[in-house]
Amino acid sequence: MSEETAPAAGDALENLLQENRRFAPSPEFAAQSVAQAGLYAEAAQDRPAFWARQARELLSWDKDFETALDWSEAPVAKWFVGGQVNAAYNALDRHVENGLGDRVAIHFEGEPGDSRSYTYAQLTQEVKKAANAFESLGVRKGDRVAVYLPMIPEAVITLLACARIGAIHSVVFGGFSADALRSRIDDAEAKLVVTADGTYRRGKPSPLKPAVDEALSAEGHTVQNVVVVKRNGEAVSWTEGRDQWWDDTVGAASAEHTPVPHDSEHPLFILYTSGTTGKPKGILHTTGGYLTQAAFTHRNIFDLHPETDVYWCTADVGWVTGHSYVTYAPLINGATQVMYEGTPDSPHQGRWWEIVQKYKVSILYTAPTAIRTFMKWGREIPEKYDLSSIRLLGSVGEPINPEAWMWYREVIGGNKAPIVDTWWQTETGAIMISPLPGLTATKPGSAQVPVPGIAVDVVDEMGESVPDGHGGFLVIREPWPAMLRGIWGDPERYKDTYWSRFDTMYFAGDGAKKDDDGDVWLLGRVDDVMNVSGHRLSTTEIESALVSHPSVAEAAVVGANDETTGQAVVAFVILREGVENNGDATVQELRNHVGKEIGPIAKPKNVLVVPELPKTRSGKIMRRLLKDVAEGRDPGDATTLADPTVMQQIAADLRK
Ligand code: WT7
Repeated sequence: MSEETAPAAGDALENLLQENRRFAPSPEFAAQSVAQAGLYAEAAQDRPAFWARQARELLSWDKDFETALDWSEAPVAKWFVGGQVNAAYNALDRHVENGLGDRVAIHFEGEPGDSRSYTYAQLTQEVKKAANAFESLGVRKGDRVAVYLPMIPEAVITLLACARIGAIHSVVFGGFSADALRSRIDDAEAKLVVTADGTYRRGKPSPLKPAVDEALSAEGHTVQNVVVVKRNGEAVSWTEGRDQWWDDTVGAASAEHTPVPHDSEHPLFILYTSGTTGKPKGILHTTGGYLTQAAFTHRNIFDLHPETDVYWCTADVGWVTGHSYVTYAPLINGATQVMYEGTPDSPHQGRWWEIVQKYKVSILYTAPTAIRTFMKWGREIPEKYDLSSIRLLGSVGEPINPEAWMWYREVIGGNKAPIVDTWWQTETGAIMISPLPGLTATKPGSAQVPVPGIAVDVVDEMGESVPDGHGGFLVIREPWPAMLRGIWGDPERYKDTYWSRFDTMYFAGDGAKKDDDGDVWLLGRVDDVMNVSGHRLSTTEIESALVSHPSVAEAAVVGANDETTGQAVVAFVILREGVENNGDATVQELRNHVGKEIGPIAKPKNVLVVPELPKTRSGKIMRRLLKDVAEGRDPGDATTLADPTVMQQIAADLRK
């Protein structure tokens, strides 16, 4: 963790906390609300029993569980001990058995304008075929499968096929580089990679397979096969014996496949996320608890009426939101959902609203960075479309500022759709803090209240609960069903990262404040993790990428406030002795280097070449001061620096 642990509290924040607009649910909305007021009291009375009821109601178990929660090996929880369940059966087969086979599960909209829909019966058949195909390639229960796919139905099919046979999927976002892919393949020792020739980005083909080829070009990996979905039809190079077209292997596979029961604690997936060190953490999730909380929150927080709603979560399957709220929860709950491959501005800036109009989307779940982008483009664009089908809006990924919240409500939600601001993390697996739309009077900018059955608190440095009106660190006091079960291959790091700051509480890494009503406001990360467009990036990881460039002696990275992306990556670098600073050329070279090492999403917005970096006497970089510079403020107190003149040198240098 960095030296600056106390959450920032500036004027903007004080203004925020004086927010006094309230939006109570309309009587019509409240009358049809899925969530019932009794949930909070029930959960408060006996938390594990509450979750046990949800588990039994929301999932079909092959074998009922004996114990709701076993916390005897804390901080590793076991939920629904003794139970057996198959995620894919719950997401697919059982709906078909219940007569819902003809309901649309996925309306897919490709970027170039192609579209196809899958009913539950069709999706079930595809998943059975993929499960057979993966098994024929030697994938067995417990094996790891790396997934490097665009936003196409095959991504969901692949994940569910893995879950069906008990293989552990590890999705790597398509925006990550070959190097990042390889390190994740190696860490999880993946046996199979599922990818595509590529996808489309802003009307142009965008390749994926070449990165897989590059990742596997050096010996010493564990991958036996690569299954390739044909999506954009671009030419790809081929390794005979290793590479298989999806259409050949999955296409030829039998559509008969019997799901086998898996233990409630059987690993479901690994998903890598950035931490405070250079090495991404493989967050491990298991089956029964994860599915229960994902399904519960999806049903109650989005007020899902599966017979009539059309749900659209805009997240990519490469992130946890695309796991919990695209792949698992909506299908477990029997929802009809929209999946879109491309960017919001292709071929025009009204594309999302055209999709909402076309499919009559009623529930939309997206990120503040997207909302702020639409605000910038202007309300005339969404106003051209019929958005009257929308009845609920969700937000996730970063704090949503009240202006964006109000714009979302007015322009997209027609001043009537409740907004749920949902706080959670890759590690928490499912939503933890959110209003319940039929019950809570919402407040622009606040995620407000813990989900029933979730024990969230805000504590001070000593771990004492802060009174209302005060800020501190966000913690979770009790184990929850969808919590991570560890970091793949590194149990110590799991304890150090989440359970050492406060002994018996989960430390989320976020600063938070309770307002006078006791509602929670999220204030951003208090560690060396940045949030750029809702994507998590590690300052340390980008610093390591920069110093791996031959020109760079030292690097410090900060997340500077940015109007659209929330934060932007700003890098300060010291060049090596004798390396000439070629201005823009040097900056471009370093940005591209980070793009190659980690992926385009990690490219710094700015690279500033400086003579020195501000360090404490113990040698720690004072990022707080660099953040001041990056955000155009006068650096604050620099007296703890080993060399207090460093900031003046930097300022003088940047003025040149
Ligand atoms: C971090 C987790 C959860 C899916 C997307 C991100 C920030 C997330 C909110 C919110 C304020 C939020 C936190 C958190 N965050 N949702 N509603 N309000 N901040 O998952 O990549 O694991 O990032 O995103 O800082 O710690 P992730």
